[in-house]
Amino acid sequence: MRRPVKNHPPGIDRGGKIADIAGPSEALPADTMNRIIHWLIVAALVLGGTALAQERYSIFVGSEPANVERMLKLAELRDDDVVVDLGSGDGRIVLMAAQMNRRLRGLGVDLDPKLVDEANAAAKAQRVADRVRFVRQNAFDADLREATVIAMWLWPEIQMMLRPKILAEARPGTRVITNLWDLGSWPPDAVDKDGPTVSMWVVPGRAAGNWNWEVTFGERKLAYAVVLEQNFQTIEGVVRVGNRRGIVHAAKLNGEGIAFTIGMTLEGLGYVRHEFTGRIRGDTIEGTARMQREKDERWVELPWRATRSASSAYFAPTGLDAK
Ligand SMILES: C[S@@+](CC[C@H](N)C(=O)[O-])C[C@H]1O[C@@H](n2cnc3c(N)ncnc32)[C@H](O)[C@@H]1O
Repeated sequence: MRRPVKNHPPGIDRGGKIADIAGPSEALPADTMNRIIHWLIVAALVLGGTALAQERYSIFVGSEPANVERMLKLAELRDDDVVVDLGSGDGRIVLMAAQMNRRLRGLGVDLDPKLVDEANAAAKAQRVADRVRFVRQNAFDADLREATVIAMWLWPEIQMMLRPKILAEARPGTRVITNLWDLGSWPPDAVDKDGPTVSMWVVPGRAAGNWNWEVTFGERKLAYAVVLEQNFQTIEGVVRVGNRRGIVHAAKLNGEGIAFTIGMTLEGLGYVRHEFTGRIRGDTIEGTARMQREKDERWVELPWRATRSASSAYFAPTGLDAK
């Protein structure tokens, strides 16, 4: 008989499965019991966690393997990924990731030294210790700069407390995956509800600010001043060209990838459609501008380079001759 491990809810062993105990498990199929116990624990975590949640409060309940697989599938693992599990428990998320992709690297951090040892032993046994390691560390001290996938199943409040760290440290494009609990008002980019909810967010690039660029279109040199506002991955903006102002439409941010359209009447050109796509690198966006005069069906493709600045011509006086 396997003994339930200290610090684990009764009836659950370190693998997050039902321990071999007498009781209703003899009457119900193991699968059903696992599910019932899983949800009882989740309820206890939510009810108890709200009162107890703090950075150092810690309990281990392993994500069910099927849910780990669903989380990792949402992340669409790649060869060059570095998967970091904040609160890695027995290491199952990082270990499964290493089995799913034979090239990626992984790191798990956990406060519990026994779980860290157990996870490192499992990495050795599974012959992935050259790519995967586990360290005893507080999630709030983990270095997220190298991570490309961040996994979490912590108290909802702790996940929220980690949100600013993730947004400040993780590189744009990093995927964040969670089991069950979300990240408050940051809307997920993908959700799998085929079972307990698992969610995925893409860390957005920093797009907010004043962006300026020039484009030579036909004979004309056009100066654009765009002001972008950002709420997580949602962006909205306005534009000024000469003395005309317009709205930035269909704005999308995916990691450091940015795309939007502008349609406005420009002096001497008539109505001009614009499609911009590029990548944000610091205070520069580099990409492509596609433009089309309504009078002329031909699309012209031009290089696009925008720079971010403290001030913007968007705010310069307009005067009374607005067109
Ligand atoms: C619910 S378990 C999840 C384990 C694993 N990620 C999984 O999904 O199977 C939460 C784990 O986070 C650890 N933990 C809690 N707070 C932590 C913190 N501030 N820093 C690091 N680990 C923490 C606990 O020791 C526990 O192993």
